[in-house]
Amino acid sequence: MASPSHASEYPHYDAQVLLNSQPVIVTVIDPSTHKIQFQNQTGLKKFGDITGQTCYDKIAGYPSPCDFCRMSEAMASDTVVSSEVPLPGNQFLLVHWAKASTVDGRTHIVETITDITEYKRTAQALQQSQKMEAVGRLAGGIAHDFNNLMMVVIGHAHRLLQQLATHPAKREIELISQAGLRAAALTKKLLTFSRRQVFEPKELDINASVRDMEDLLQRMIGEHVQMVVVLHPEAGHAMMDPVQFQQILMNLVVNARDAMPDGGLLNIETDRIDLDEQFVRLHPGAMTGSFVKILVQDAGCGMDPETLSHIFEPFFTTKGPDKGTGLGLATVYGILKQSQGYIDVISQPGQGTRFTVYLPRIGQPGAALPVVQTAMAPVAARETILLVEDDDSIRTLMATVLQDQGYQVLVASDGIQALQQLQLHKGLCHLLVTDVIMPRMKSTVLVEGMKVMQPAARILYMSGYAGETLEANGIHENTPFLQKPFLPSTLLEKVQELLKSNK
Ligand SMILES: Nc1ncnc2c1ncn2[C@@H]1O[C@H](COP(=O)(O)OP(=O)(O)OP(=O)(O)O)[C@@H](O)[C@H]1O
Ligand SMILES: [Mg+2]
Repeated sequence: MASPSHASEYPHYDAQVLLNSQPVIVTVIDPSTHKIQFQNQTGLKKFGDITGQTCYDKIAGYPSPCDFCRMSEAMASDTVVSSEVPLPGNQFLLVHWAKASTVDGRTHIVETITDITEYKRTAQALQQSQKMEAVGRLAGGIAHDFNNLMMVVIGHAHRLLQQLATHPAKREIELISQAGLRAAALTKKLLTFSRRQVFEPKELDINASVRDMEDLLQRMIGEHVQMVVVLHPEAGHAMMDPVQFQQILMNLVVNARDAMPDGGLLNIETDRIDLDEQFVRLHPGAMTGSFVKILVQDAGCGMDPETLSHIFEPFFTTKGPDKGTGLGLATVYGILKQSQGYIDVISQPGQGTRFTVYLPRIGQPGAALPVVQTAMAPVAARETILLVEDDDSIRTLMATVLQDQGYQVLVASDGIQALQQLQLHKGLCHLLVTDVIMPRMKSTVLVEGMKVMQPAARILYMSGYAGETLEANGIHENTPFLQKPFLPSTLLEKVQELLKSNK
C-alpha cells in the first residue's frame, strides 16, 4: 500500500468527477431530515434533480421513512450497512449506507444504490422453474404408478359389468368404474403437468383454432363477462396438439371468468412475436425465436406476489374445496413445456391478470400431419399373442381380456421370459404386445429377437411413460402404441387393427 508520503506521485483526481463516473447511484443524505444533499450523475439520470428532497419519497417511493431504512444503524457503527429495499411496483434496490466524514460538526450518510430489479426477477424465475421441475418429477412418479393401479381397477370393473347384465350389484360396480375413470382423468392431468402424456402435435392455425372455440368459450364464461377477441392476421401457425391447445385456452378463460364473479372484460388476442436474448435472460425457461403469442387478459381480482409464486404448482388453488382442483394451470404449464412454449403472467391485486402464452411459430404453413385414428368392432379371433408386462395384475387383466376374445395368449413378465416362451412355442406368433420399460431386458432387444424368430409378427408397445423416455426406447410417432391406462375395449381395438393389417 502506498504511504501518505507517496501521494504526490499520483495524479490529483477530483472526487466529484470520480463519483460522477460511477455506474452506481451515490447520494449524500442528512440523517436528521432524510434530505438528499448530493447526488452523482447516475442518480441525476435515474431520478432527475432530487436534492433537497427526502430519500424515502424520491428514491424509495414511500410516504414516510421506510422500514427497510438502516441509516441510523450506519450512524451508530463504523461499518457499511446494507439492505435490499423492495419498492412499490415489484422493483428492488440494493442500498449500502455508510457514515461520511464529519464536516462542520455534522455527519452525513453516503448511500450507494444499485437497481437489482432485473437480477432479482431472473433469480426468482430460475428458482421457480427449478421448483416446478422437482414437483413435476414427484407428481409424474406418483401418477405413473397410480395409473397402473387404476388400469386394473377400471379394467376389472368393465369386465364384471359385461358379465353381470342383470345382477343387483351392477349399479355398485358402475359406480366403482365411474370413480376409477375420474381418478384416471385426474392422473392424466398430472401426467400432462409432468410431461409424460402422449401428444399428437400437428400444424395448427392458431387464429382459426381460437375462432373455432369462440362459441364454446362464450358459453363457458356466461353472459356477465364480455369477451373481446382480436386475432392478428400475422399470428401464424404452431406445432401443437389441437386438444392440448384447447385445454390451454379453456383453463385460462375459466380462471379469468372465476376472477370476475361480477362480470367484466375478457380480452383474447393473438399476434406474432420474436423473443430475443434479453427476454430469455429475464424469463428462464423461455427460448429465443419466432412465436405465436396468445394473450388472455381479465379485469378481475388479480393476485398478490405470494399467490403468483404458486399458481403453476399442481393442487394449488384459492377456490376452496369442491370448486377448484388446482390442476388447471399445472396442466397448462406442462403442455407448454412439452411443446417448447412458454407462459408469462402479470397480475396485481385489484388490477386484473394478463397471461401470455408463447407457442413456437412455424414459418411456412403446410399440410397438417395425418392423425391415425381407428375404431373397430370386436370380433372373435384365434391368433397367438405374446404379452410381456412386468406388473402382475395388469398382465393378468390383459391376458384375460384377450383370451375372452379367443386369442391364444403367451405371457411373460420380462424380455428374457418372453424369448423363452417363443422358443417353446411351435406355431406362428402373430403379435407381440410389450411394455416399453421393463426389468432385465430392454424392449428394443426383445423386439430384435422377436423379428428373428417371428419375422411376420406385428409389435404393439404400451407404456405409462411418454415423450423423451419413449423416444429413447425407439418409439416414434407412427409406432403402434397404447398409452396406459387404457380400457380393455381400447386394447382389443388396437390388437384387431394390427392383426388385420397383417393379413
Ligand atoms: N385470472 C386469474 N385471476 C386471479 N387469480 C387467478 C387467475 N388464474 C389463476 N388464478 C389463481 O391461481 C390458482 C390456480 O389456478 P388453477 O387454474 O391451476 O386452479 P383452479 O382454477 O383453482 O382449479 P382448477 O383449474 O383445477 O379447477 C387459482 O386458484 C387462483 O387463485
Ligand atoms: Mg383453473
